[in-house]
Amino acid sequence: MSKTSKSAAAEAQELERSYKLADIVKQRQHTLTTLALQPGEKVFDIGCGVGFLTLEMAQQVGKSGQVIGFDQNPEMISNAKKRCEGLQQAEFHQGDAIQLPAQDQTFDAVSCTQVLLYVKDVPKVLAEMRRILKPGGRMVIVETDWRGVVLNSGDDALTKQIFAAWDSAVPSPNLPVHLGPLLKKHGFSNIQVEAVPIINTEYSPNHFSCEMMKWITKNAVKQGVFNETQRKEFLADLEERERSGSYFFCVNRFLFSAKL
Ligand SMILES: C[S@@+](CC[C@H](N)C(=O)[O-])C[C@H]1O[C@@H](n2cnc3c(N)ncnc32)[C@H](O)[C@@H]1O
Repeated sequence: MSKTSKSAAAEAQELERSYKLADIVKQRQHTLTTLALQPGEKVFDIGCGVGFLTLEMAQQVGKSGQVIGFDQNPEMISNAKKRCEGLQQAEFHQGDAIQLPAQDQTFDAVSCTQVLLYVKDVPKVLAEMRRILKPGGRMVIVETDWRGVVLNSGDDALTKQIFAAWDSAVPSPNLPVHLGPLLKKHGFSNIQVEAVPIINTEYSPNHFSCEMMKWITKNAVKQGVFNETQRKEFLADLEERERSGSYFFCVNRFLFSAKL
C-alpha cells in the first residue's frame, strides 16, 4: 500500500470511529431534519465520507428516489458503498467537488457537511451546487469555525499555537463567517444559519473532542509547534482535567440552509 493510500485509509478509519459518536449523530439528525427529504427525491451528497449521512438519506428517499455519494478519497467511497449495500437508490462516484458528475438542474437537494473546510476553491463548488439543483432545489452546508474553539488547558499560549497550526493546515478554517454573502452571490435565497455547538465536559473516546485533540496536536507536531514528548504532556494535562472534573471543550458548527 502506498503512503498516500495508507493515509487515505487512515482518514476513512478515523471517520468510521468519530462520526458514530453522539455529538456527530445529533448534528446529522439536525441536517436531515433541515433537508426534510421526501420519498422519490434526488439528492447529491458532496464529500460523503464513509456514508453515514448518505445511508440515512437513501432510506428517506426510498427506492423511487436516488442518492449520489461523492468523495475524492477512494477509501471513503469503498466504506460508503459497503454501508449502503443492498440499497439500489444509492450510487457512489469519486472525484473533486469542483466538478460534479451530474447534469444541470437535476437534483432536488444537495448536502455538503464538513467538507468545504478542505476545499481551496469554495466558490467553484457553490457554482456546481447551483448548477445541478432544480429551480426551487434546496441545500445544506455544515461547517466549523475552528477559530472560535474554547479549551480549558494548562497552557493558553501553547493552545493558541496548536490551533494556529490547525488553522494554517486547512484552506478554509473559518468559512462560516464568509458563507452567507457567498451563497447570496451564487444566487441562493432563503439563507438560514443555525449554530450547532459541540460541548464536551468529558475527555473520553466517547466524545468528539478527545480524538479531535489527538488529531489536531499531531498536526502541531508536524508543523513544528512542539515535539512528540511535549504533545504527550499536553494530552496528559487534558486527561488530568478529566479526572479533576475541569475538562471543557467547545466548538461551534454552523448549519446553513438555502434554496434556489
Ligand atoms: C470530515 S469528512 C465529512 C464526511 C461526511 N460529509 C460527513 O459529514 O459524514 C470530509 C470529507 O470530504 C472529502 N473531501 C474533501 N475535499 C474534497 C473535495 N475537494 N472533493 C470531494 N471530496 C472532498 C474528504 O475525502 C472526506 O471524506
